[in-house]
Amino acid sequence: MPATAAQAQPGILDTLAPLGRSLTFSLGSRSNAHNLQAALTRLRDMFAADWGVVGFGAPLVHALDQHVAGLRPFPALEGQGCAAPSTQQAMWILLRGSERSSLFERTAQLVELLGDALVLEDALDTFRYRDYRDLTGYEDGTENPKDAAAIAAALVAEGIGRQGSSFVAVQRWIHDLTRFRGFPAAQRDASIGRRIADNEEIEDAPESAHVKRAAQESFTPEAYMVRHSMPWDNGLQQGTEFIAYGESSDRFENVLRRMLGHEDNIVDALFSFSRPVTGGYYWCPPLRDGHLDLSNIGV
Ligand code: HEM
Repeated sequence: MPATAAQAQPGILDTLAPLGRSLTFSLGSRSNAHNLQAALTRLRDMFAADWGVVGFGAPLVHALDQHVAGLRPFPALEGQGCAAPSTQQAMWILLRGSERSSLFERTAQLVELLGDALVLEDALDTFRYRDYRDLTGYEDGTENPKDAAAIAAALVAEGIGRQGSSFVAVQRWIHDLTRFRGFPAAQRDASIGRRIADNEEIEDAPESAHVKRAAQESFTPEAYMVRHSMPWDNGLQQGTEFIAYGESSDRFENVLRRMLGHEDNIVDALFSFSRPVTGGYYWCPPLRDGHLDLSNIGV
């Protein structure tokens, strides 16, 4: 029996909420297995599934003296003239909402309930831009698998306390939109590999085109993943909070390595106007009776 959508945190498969807030938490100087256990018990009991998506990083799982098969820290990787840093943290939460008030209140509730076991390290407000577009103006998510294919790509298929869970990759990219807008229109289309006018794929796009680098069916094994990236903008800087769910982190990592030129020295054209500044892998536990099921990490 494969996993069902009902076993997964709903934010993994649902379309983007109008607003998001991407929170990362670190282990504090006062963290220990005892207060982490207590904080996660409170989180399990209080976090409603429609608040968003919760994921645990390797540092947290180790601090609990537990093991999640397949969970590893995000690797720092580089290519010619480009880099993908690792900023692995203990926990990531994507709050989902339709207005700022609830994101504000839930952030405060989380900080209080986590006490000094997990310290809020970073918060980034994200939003849905127009009809699911990246800030470059290109539609993002077109080739996402749907329905049963999305479940197969994003959710762990079996295992007690594991079925319906997912591995997320979170990577913050900062765009240089002034530079991107300075490219001729044909170069902008060629760097994505799709025409902005009709979102059609460009058959003879260069090998550096993002959708050629990332063509999911061209990997062995195939690298289908559910991408729910969200734009962000603070007025001074802007970019993409890249968020992708997979039944393992391998799908994402294989694509990222090819984007960095590891296979053929061809670097993804995205790097000509954008660069990642964070990188983390998190295991998103399944749900049981509408609450987070933390039995796989001993909570
Ligand atoms: C600045 C960061 C990024 C931006 C703005 C971006 C944007 C896009 C856009 C516009 C598309 C075409 C439409 C679609 O199918 O969604 C696309 C496709 C895709 N992207 Fe990205 N992307 C980014 C980073 C990444 C990263 C880091 C990965 C994985 C390591 C990735 C994986 C994919 C995949 C798998 C596809 C679908 C390719 C296919 O099978 O046609 N993207 N992206």
